[in-house]
Amino acid sequence: MTRTEKTLAEAIRGRRATPSFDGTPIPEADLRRILDAGLHAPSGYNMQPWRFIVVQSEEQKKRLRGASYNQAKVEEASAVIVACGDADGWRRDLDLMLEQGLAGGMPESYADQARSTVPNYLSSFTSDQMKTWLTKQVTLAFTSMLLMAEVMGYDTAPMEGFEQEKVHEVLRLPLSYWVVALLAVGHSKGSDKFDGGRFDMGHTVFGEEFGKRLK
Ligand SMILES: Cc1cc2nc3c(=O)[nH]c(=O)nc-3n(C[C@H](O)[C@H](O)[C@H](O)COP(=O)(O)O)c2cc1C
Repeated sequence: MTRTEKTLAEAIRGRRATPSFDGTPIPEADLRRILDAGLHAPSGYNMQPWRFIVVQSEEQKKRLRGASYNQAKVEEASAVIVACGDADGWRRDLDLMLEQGLAGGMPESYADQARSTVPNYLSSFTSDQMKTWLTKQVTLAFTSMLLMAEVMGYDTAPMEGFEQEKVHEVLRLPLSYWVVALLAVGHSKGSDKFDGGRFDMGHTVFGEEFGKRLK
């Protein structure tokens, strides 16, 4: 099937949080391209602490819906990408990150320093600080996936309406995982969603310091 992709600018301005999906399956190649976009996001120290569970089967979507305040779009979407952060990821992945970095031209001196700064920094976190750090990293990958899906002509719905413990149970997640958000991907069903609009720049953007208008 030939398809014209949207530009990134079109995807950003035309995107809406989709209320309802038609449930058509998503081709595997498309899904992988969307996921790959997320995996290329930047992350602190390139530690890539994100983990994604892709839910596509009818029975598992139904169970995930039950963990998401019964939101119908969880079951209707072609795929739901459950975006998580792994608090222990860096412990296992530091060597791999450095190995890949060195292969790509990372200076030895940087690698030597990272071998101590990364564990020092991340092991000093409280549990809440770790959740904040993970949320920051995972959200960047999540947003890249969402925008790639929109560029490709899919409709998306980001979701924070879920219960952490229930999602853990349904997906059998390790204890070190922190669920950040759900991304429903598919094709919209029914009428277009209203555009809620956005506050103008004068409301949310300052120049040089708080309270000063951006010139
Ligand atoms: C992190 C995040 C979580 C959200 N969670 C939900 C959700 O659980 N259920 C829902 O119906 N909409 C959810 N939304 C959609 C927002 O309500 C929607 O993005 C907002 O109203 C603006 O509408 P628009 O995205 O169509 O412009 C979420 C959006 C974001 C960014």
